[in-house]
Amino acid sequence: MAIGTAGYTAMLCCLALRDAGLEPGGGDVLVTGASGGVGSIAIAILAGWGFRVTASTGKSAETDFLRAMGAASVIDRAELAAPGKPLQKERWSGVVDSVGSHTLANACAQTRYGGAVAACGLAQGMDFPATVAPFILRGVRLLGIDSVMCPRARRRLAWERLASDLDRARLENATVEIGLAGAIEVAPELLAGKVRGRVVVDVNA
Ligand SMILES: NC(=O)c1ccc[n+]([C@@H]2O[C@H](COP(=O)([O-])OP(=O)(O)OC[C@H]3O[C@@H](n4cnc5c(N)ncnc54)[C@H](OP(=O)(O)O)[C@@H]3O)[C@@H](O)[C@H]2O)c1
Repeated sequence: MAIGTAGYTAMLCCLALRDAGLEPGGGDVLVTGASGGVGSIAIAILAGWGFRVTASTGKSAETDFLRAMGAASVIDRAELAAPGKPLQKERWSGVVDSVGSHTLANACAQTRYGGAVAACGLAQGMDFPATVAPFILRGVRLLGIDSVMCPRARRRLAWERLASDLDRARLENATVEIGLAGAIEVAPELLAGKVRGRVVVDVNA
């Protein structure tokens, strides 16, 4: 359960980037919402595959945690959160985005020629205030990731790759366990984006 839907979705994002042709050594991959469930596990997967990962977070206090998950560098999410230019300096070979809104628009605008952006979330917002410039001038590909209706064969592949490729020590590092009564306290924190990594609820405790 520490992996859960978030970890499975993280793997779907990472597989989509590989299918789009991304290879380790081809440039930094940006992970947004980095300290969240999808973000922290995406970092561990990509770092495990040998990618250099930049983590974007609103929690500067979690820099050491993000480095322990495998991030090579950490940036403040404020850099990406406000409206930006349609095309910006090319920084990323790929992106795993769990945030949406201006963050996704800026991530696309900063993706290198021919790069790919896997979009799975809406932590900042469901809107996508972007232009087509990155897609038609840099050949950037926007890859939509859905975990719910994902076909069975793809699910199997994702779970198999989680079993073989996800570093267990990093998964443990990203996970805290609480009893059922503790869920009442943690839920508002989670909704406020303040929880780090994954929270496993032991319903028998
Ligand atoms: N497509 C699918 O099938 C699928 C599957 C699972 C989840 N999702 C979606 O993916 C997103 C991430 O899921 P999760 O389980 O990782 O959630 P989570 O654990 O709550 O993590 C979300 C992270 O986003 C960042 N964040 C929160 N509020 C933000 C804001 N206002 N602006 C910018 N960043 C903000 C925070 O990270 P930092 O503090 O590090 O910035 C937070 O930890 C959610 O929107 C969820 O609904 C989609």
